[in-house]
Amino acid sequence: MSTSASALEVESLTKVFKDRGGIAVRAVDGVCFKVKQGEVLGLLGPNGAGKTTSIKCILGLMRPDSGRIALFGQDAQAAYPRILAKASAVLEGSRNLYWRMSVWENVTFFAALHGAASPEDRQYFGRLLKLFALEDKRDTEVRKLSQGMKQKASVVCALARRTPLVFLDEPTLGLDVETSLELRSVLKQLAREEGRTFVVSSHDMHVIQDVCGRVVIMSSGRVVVDDQVSHLMSLFRTKAYRIGLRGPSPDGLHARLAQEFAGATVTEAEAGAEIKVNLSEDNDIYRLMDVLRSMDSVIDQISREEVDLEKVYLEIVREERARS
Ligand SMILES: Nc1ncnc2c1ncn2[C@@H]1O[C@H](COP(=O)(O)OP(=O)(O)OP(=O)(O)O)[C@@H](O)[C@H]1O
Ligand SMILES: [Mg+2]
Repeated sequence: MSTSASALEVESLTKVFKDRGGIAVRAVDGVCFKVKQGEVLGLLGPNGAGKTTSIKCILGLMRPDSGRIALFGQDAQAAYPRILAKASAVLEGSRNLYWRMSVWENVTFFAALHGAASPEDRQYFGRLLKLFALEDKRDTEVRKLSQGMKQKASVVCALARRTPLVFLDEPTLGLDVETSLELRSVLKQLAREEGRTFVVSSHDMHVIQDVCGRVVIMSSGRVVVDDQVSHLMSLFRTKAYRIGLRGPSPDGLHARLAQEFAGATVTEAEAGAEIKVNLSEDNDIYRLMDVLRSMDSVIDQISREEVDLEKVYLEIVREERARS
């Protein structure tokens, strides 16, 4: 298992927790996925799906029961902790900071853990603080920062080491809408300009849709989807159309539509009748137009239900629950 273009390869990773009663939880159950260098991968899944446990196993913070992990083509388990010079992480919130040290002290401290910071490094730290709008908080003790600022400071600490692989577990937790948007644009910029590899776990599908090229969706410790975001969206692209008519529907329209388009519904509203229909072929929309024209219906508006990653994700998770 070694392709040099891979930043990370996880093969058959399994982690079982046993509670005092001896009952076992298979938190991670045979997980396999790869991340290419320079890729931004989204790791998704409902609470308890096994995302954080997988990340902790990859980082050597937890010993898996079985499985193999390779970082940049090297067997990670054989190379801990040396291999961690290549990976940094923010794990669930901002607890990795020293609260009585300032932002700048934290950044230089964490970067220095892995070798002294050069003048060029310090310039880079300054750039990160600027990107994250923390420049004016540089010398403020972390305990005096707001929740969102702490979160940003911990992301800065993870990025400051300039590792080629970065894990961000819930990086936008507690961030306000504007700051979350800022963080997304910074991540995209860093991936683009510096070619670093990111594994981002988040429950905010807007973040994932915005920054990730590919997603791995976990459920009950297993990988249930591993696909490009654009491909996933196209699979789920809905064919549901909504057509608003000017005025009430003409006699017989409902029966005619029901006959030609399975599942079509017509509801009468004050503004005019509304048709909801699933059209399976591109040609269907023209057939529908012909039917409406032949019955002298005037179309007021046509819209197609938009698909976004959140809808796709919910659909996948629901299907998965129904199956298990
Ligand atoms: N230290 C632990 N001891 C016992 N069980 C644990 C431990 N850590 C996690 N688990 C269990 O492992 C499963 C996976 O948890 P994990 O934290 O990996 O989920 P997650 O996907 O990160 O969820 P979330 O979205 O809530 O962060 C859960 O059932 C959890 O209760
Ligand atoms: Mg988690």
